Amino acid sequence: MSEGGAAAPAGYPDELKELVDGYLDTLRFPGTDAVPGLVEAMRYSLLAGGKRIRPVLAMATARSLGHDAERVLPLAAALEMIHTYSLIHDDLPAMDDDDLRRGKKTLHKESGEAVAILAGDCLYAEAFALLLGAPGHEPRALVAAASILARSTGVEGMVGGQFIDVEATAGDGIGGLEVLHALKTGKLISASADCVTALLEAPQEETTFISTYARELGLLFQIVDDILDVTGTDESLGKQPGADEHKRTFVSEIGLDGAGEMASLHHGLALSAIEEMGDEATELRAIADHVLTRTS
Ligand code: IPE
Ligand code: IPE
Ligand code: MG
Ligand code: MG
Ligand code: MG
Repeated sequence: MSEGGAAAPAGYPDELKELVDGYLDTLRFPGTDAVPGLVEAMRYSLLAGGKRIRPVLAMATARSLGHDAERVLPLAAALEMIHTYSLIHDDLPAMDDDDLRRGKKTLHKESGEAVAILAGDCLYAEAFALLLGAPGHEPRALVAAASILARSTGVEGMVGGQFIDVEATAGDGIGGLEVLHALKTGKLISASADCVTALLEAPQEETTFISTYARELGLLFQIVDDILDVTGTDESLGKQPGADEHKRTFVSEIGLDGAGEMASLHHGLALSAIEEMGDEATELRAIADHVLTRTS
């Protein structure tokens, strides 16, 4: 059973969550003696117990290409650090103004806004330091992965999407919402696979299959997040439902049933993208099933 949610489908690589949880806990940052409170704040949010979908996807992608999960562990951890930074900033009073995250007080409630902003900034910087210092990779592969990661969090990525979200400038209809979701959530999820194919210099065919799969998975993930914002509870989600009531979401646009149908559609598209990959992609399929049926 995954933490606080539905049982993961057969084939879901639960052990990869354990692996990244353990690794994140061991991370130490140089020079931390001078700023103990900063590292404490970063660890408060990072180790609060998220689902770890992005690092699990990264490591499952590596395995689908015939590599050990450990080979991409620093990259997987970097993805989770960046995701955690995005959550810390997303919860700030100037953004979504939320009090509960990962079953705990949000960082600004615990330590104040200035510390929360700085802890988020620092997680972002340290994520790149970790990735670029990862052993066992060619410099060109590291640069390619880091470049995808940076782009996927910038103007045409997560932060661009967050801007469209808070400024309510998404285009009309489902198409406009899809663009918003693809940026604010989709890009970091698709980067979790695309950075791995770049880092491991995967063959072109697999790179394309996996990239299409991950793009659909990212969209699916935020559609389900919108649904859970209506149907979930504090307890199951570890965050307050109803937070997006005043925003345009898939549910506000086409209702719960319509959003459910869109989720099924993108789940189907994710699976068909990796149809030709055979047994190597079993874990990637289980991740798509898990994202569709998750309750947390
Ligand atoms: C929540 O992400 C924010 C979105 C991008 C929808 P997750 O649902 O992955 O949150 P954690 O990491 O499990 O806390
Ligand atoms: C946030 O979307 C996406 C991020 C980039 C963090 P939401 O605002 O819907 O995420 P939750 O519901 O607060 O986790
Ligand atoms: Mg938000
Ligand atoms: Mg939010
Ligand atoms: Mg949400």
